[in-house]
Amino acid sequence: MHTYLIDLLECPSCHGSLTWSISSQKDDRIIEAIARCQICTAEYPIREGIGIFLTPDLPRTDLWEQGGQQLSRLFSEHPEIEARLMDSPLSNLGPADQFFRGMALEERGEYSEAQRAFDAAMPELYTDDYRHCWQSQVDFVLEALAGGTNPVVDLASGRCYLVRDLIDATERPIVATDFSLHVLRRNREWLIHHGLYNRVSLLAFDARRTPFRDNSIETMTTNVGLPNIAEPENLLGELRRITSGQFLAVSHFYSADDSANLSALQGAKLVDSLLRESVLTAFREAGWRVSVRNSRHGLARPTPQGEILEGASIDGFPVVETILEWCVLEAR
Ligand SMILES: C[S@@+](CC[C@H](N)C(=O)[O-])C[C@H]1O[C@@H](n2cnc3c(N)ncnc32)[C@H](O)[C@@H]1O
Repeated sequence: MHTYLIDLLECPSCHGSLTWSISSQKDDRIIEAIARCQICTAEYPIREGIGIFLTPDLPRTDLWEQGGQQLSRLFSEHPEIEARLMDSPLSNLGPADQFFRGMALEERGEYSEAQRAFDAAMPELYTDDYRHCWQSQVDFVLEALAGGTNPVVDLASGRCYLVRDLIDATERPIVATDFSLHVLRRNREWLIHHGLYNRVSLLAFDARRTPFRDNSIETMTTNVGLPNIAEPENLLGELRRITSGQFLAVSHFYSADDSANLSALQGAKLVDSLLRESVLTAFREAGWRVSVRNSRHGLARPTPQGEILEGASIDGFPVVETILEWCVLEAR
């Protein structure tokens, strides 16, 4: 993480100020350090450049770590499955297996082969509408942020799709964040490999309890991050606390009369995060002024399942074909 962040950070547990002991720094990047809360004495390490501001009390399911572990367990118990997935010609695999092969290659650091697998998978995994509607939202965010110089904090950055585009399209410092240390470490390797790490800081924290001071963030983004955050009751209030400027959230919504998908989403406790009116109400109740920008509608289908990784899916939703609304929520 870069040194400019020191002025923006505080204890995520009690909001106390932090005392920094930096043991390794390269130019303006802190590599190894401990940040200690002056009030509750909690300690937050910076390891291999990643600031770790996770608190012990919030439960979290790190799907990236689980997925990686499941794949390596499966490969060690069934080497024949690994051989079929990794050694068959790419064009012989179904799209889900192509995607899983990409993920396994990325874990091994074989980035260009991984990209080839992802590129092959995408057109079959997602409808043209789905990809174009999504890309249109990302383009909207990039255009909105193109001119400025202040840092962008991206929430629930996952594999950094939006972050990669922000690096290309802007001159801004970027803070990629996620509660999964596993995915942040993988991102660091990917960004270094592609020569894109320079302006990026990586911070591990839970978006429901961030380590930022009140009103410290001028520009915040997320690329379909919000519906991935479970038990989001205080999420939008916490984001309101730390944001002084704008929050641009790439979002998609299900229609209120899409009963098949809504009842499946209900079962996964996701329905309130994926219905336009519930989300807008939640923003307003948390004190945001929010508007829907760049609305686009497009066809979405369930993603095909793996054949070699039998039954494994990329996305759980939609469960039946539907029309989704895509947009950027612009909140201030
Ligand atoms: C699938 S990603 C979204 C796509 C991503 N924004 C991109 O542009 O590539 C969703 C991420 O949310 C993260 N996540 C889920 N709950 C979270 C929480 N409470 N705080 C921070 N990150 C969270 C997951 O670890 C996952 O990486």
